[in-house]
Amino acid sequence: MRRLRRQRIKRVILVYMTLILMYALTVIFSRVNEDATGVFDRQRLTVKYDINCSAIYDMEPAEVGKSLTVRKNKNYVMLTDMSIVNAISDCNRFIASKGYDAVQGSEFEREFPLAYSLVVHKDADLVERLLRTIYMPHNVYCIHYDLKSSDDFISAMQGLARCIPNVFIASKLERVQYAGISRLQADLNCLSDLLESEVKWKYVINLCGQDFPLRTNAELVSDLKKLNGTNMVESKRPGGKVWRWTFHHELKNNTEYYESPIKTSEKKPPPPHNIEMFVGSAYFTLSREFALFVQLNCLVRDFLVWSEDTYSPGDEHFWATLVRVPGVPGEVPRSDPDISELTSKTHLVKWEYLEGSLYPPCTGEHMRSVCIFGAAELRWLLDYGHWFANKVDPRVDPILIECLEEKLLENN
Ligand SMILES: *[C@@H]1O[C@H](CO)[C@@H](O)[C@H](O)[C@H]1NC(C)=O
Ligand SMILES: *[C@@H]1O[C@H](CO)[C@@H](O)[C@H](O)[C@H]1NC(C)=O
Repeated sequence: MRRLRRQRIKRVILVYMTLILMYALTVIFSRVNEDATGVFDRQRLTVKYDINCSAIYDMEPAEVGKSLTVRKNKNYVMLTDMSIVNAISDCNRFIASKGYDAVQGSEFEREFPLAYSLVVHKDADLVERLLRTIYMPHNVYCIHYDLKSSDDFISAMQGLARCIPNVFIASKLERVQYAGISRLQADLNCLSDLLESEVKWKYVINLCGQDFPLRTNAELVSDLKKLNGTNMVESKRPGGKVWRWTFHHELKNNTEYYESPIKTSEKKPPPPHNIEMFVGSAYFTLSREFALFVQLNCLVRDFLVWSEDTYSPGDEHFWATLVRVPGVPGEVPRSDPDISELTSKTHLVKWEYLEGSLYPPCTGEHMRSVCIFGAAELRWLLDYGHWFANKVDPRVDPILIECLEEKLLENN
């Protein structure tokens, strides 16, 4: 009797121990699995809160409402730069977990390689997401980080360059100052490195850390092929902005990103070579021929030197003016009408003072008068026809970025 009971107890214990062992194995296995798919899946709030991006695109009120709730609850946590550094420490694992090794362009895309100049200074998590979304192994990517960036951020960028094929750090780095020449110089440093790359790219596009693509690589290539060698930049008559280059500006040796150059009363000589001035933006899509011209031409060099003490040369007039110089590759004739930011397809930006007249109001938040887009703008962004959105920030609206990622994957 007693022996029978003891045997029974033993059997029960055995069953329990087997169950516990099986449970432990399942937990360990799922951990491994989670690590293999990486932070990408753990963070996805559309999965966690059951949000349907197609329904957001369709402007379903209930679904847009859910995204607002996620936003209000501040449910997004940006990964620290250090955790990106740690994730990249094992290259093979990082590449595989993020899927960098799985992407491959079609023949159509491979015969039309692209180059990117990424001028970034913070939030390695977001930079990596941007890079992953635009990444194709046959393209080439130059990262320019700011010499003022944190050590962790710099390590993260160096890690990306070390691990991912055809991604490199600019050979010359700048301390980037707001509205100063250094912003432009950063892009020029990347341009010159990119021209030396073995990748014989057809067009180069510059991006900053808060940009996000609105088109897949194939869609972009298709649009760029239609440009037939012309450049895509904003270029308008200067209107009230002439003061920016008629007076000498002084750059303080500042540490703040958003301290502007100071206007003095000292007059500047007119631009060299009788160049006619136009204004536009820092963003460009340039043909290889035009980029080569910019590297080698002495008019460009003189113009760059003259621009050094102007206000915001890179953002305001450098590219806008050069594409109109007679005889340049892909020239825009000076007599052509203004190319506004809504005509130039490179970047889609919403300025607070034009909302309601040129486009529907921002559904995210404003930062220095520029809209950081919200999920309710998903449809507007994707349907507009531009190539990149500026600005996005998951701390403002994490769902918008996830839905953009998802929609781009669907169109692949
Ligand atoms: C998501 O929304 C779309 C469009 O509103 C709908 O057709 C689709 O069935 C939905 N998907 C799921 C999984 O609910
Ligand atoms: C493309 O550019 C070439 C050379 O600049 C020109 O001869 C050709 O007509 C252009 N094609 C189209 C479709 O515009």
